[in-house]
Amino acid sequence: MFTFAHLSDLHLPMPALSGWRPLANKRILGYLSYQLKRKNVHRQSVLAALVEDLRRQAPDHIVITGDLTNIALPEEFSAAAWWLEALGPPERVTVVPGNHDALVAVPWPRSLGRWAPLMSDPGTPLHDAGGFPFVRRRGPIALIGVSSACPTPPFHASGRVGDDQLARLARLLEQLRAPSVFRVVLIHHPPIGGMMTHRKRLIDQAAFRAVIERAGAELVLHGHHHLFSQDALATPAGTAPVLGVPSASARRHLGRQHAGYHVCRLAADAASWRLEIEVRGLAEAEDRFTTERGFAMTIPNDSADSRPPAAMSAG
Ligand SMILES: [Fe+2]
Repeated sequence: MFTFAHLSDLHLPMPALSGWRPLANKRILGYLSYQLKRKNVHRQSVLAALVEDLRRQAPDHIVITGDLTNIALPEEFSAAAWWLEALGPPERVTVVPGNHDALVAVPWPRSLGRWAPLMSDPGTPLHDAGGFPFVRRRGPIALIGVSSACPTPPFHASGRVGDDQLARLARLLEQLRAPSVFRVVLIHHPPIGGMMTHRKRLIDQAAFRAVIERAGAELVLHGHHHLFSQDALATPAGTAPVLGVPSASARRHLGRQHAGYHVCRLAADAASWRLEIEVRGLAEAEDRFTTERGFAMTIPNDSADSRPPAAMSAG
């Protein structure tokens, strides 16, 4: 049994500004949004309860699908790196960036480079954004971290993977394909049509889905929409679940979901994987997380035997 927790959209508290100059761009809109709304939703007390709950759950690994920052200030990347250190050692925590982490272009060493130890392994360091998707192997799982984070025009929160990453993703998924490997693709934006508004969507989602359909994966995890969601994408072996989680730091507000995350427990038998999902949610009055529900799924392992004949799959 291998266990991993999936969190997303933490929007950690913003450090004090050292001046107004950093806001002389698209950040001013995000800053106003943070001051007027976000800082009252994403709370330090919930984050403390989350860390305590994760300590008690003690998963083998923790994955975070982006949006740790609010307006991509270098100080926010540093603060997030320290917060992540408290969550666990880099070998037990994996991160991919979200649109807030790429609100404006910031040099790699002062932005995502601060989280590089959580997006790479010692033998395969990540030097810049050209290193996505990265792969981290942990037990039976292969974590494939895709970046859909890119600067966008004001009032947009869309994402794009890009042709280079998609080609590399297809190669990695093919290379990792084996009955004993459970491929988990991490991406911030939902790759499912109709889940987001036009200005918040994954622009090249159809191309992403085509890669999964062709090369296969056992699970896709995402955030961005601040909701629990369950969907599926076609793969050569059948379908792969696509699971979304809400913000792991939000109190209940304006009818949106309160903080929650998934604990995933993976086991294998000869022909398939069994994935049990425990939904952990914030018991708001008590500022602690509890089990809200659970569900399980069987996922075919992607061996040569499990794939339909080429003539059939091509049709
Ligand atoms: Fe997002």
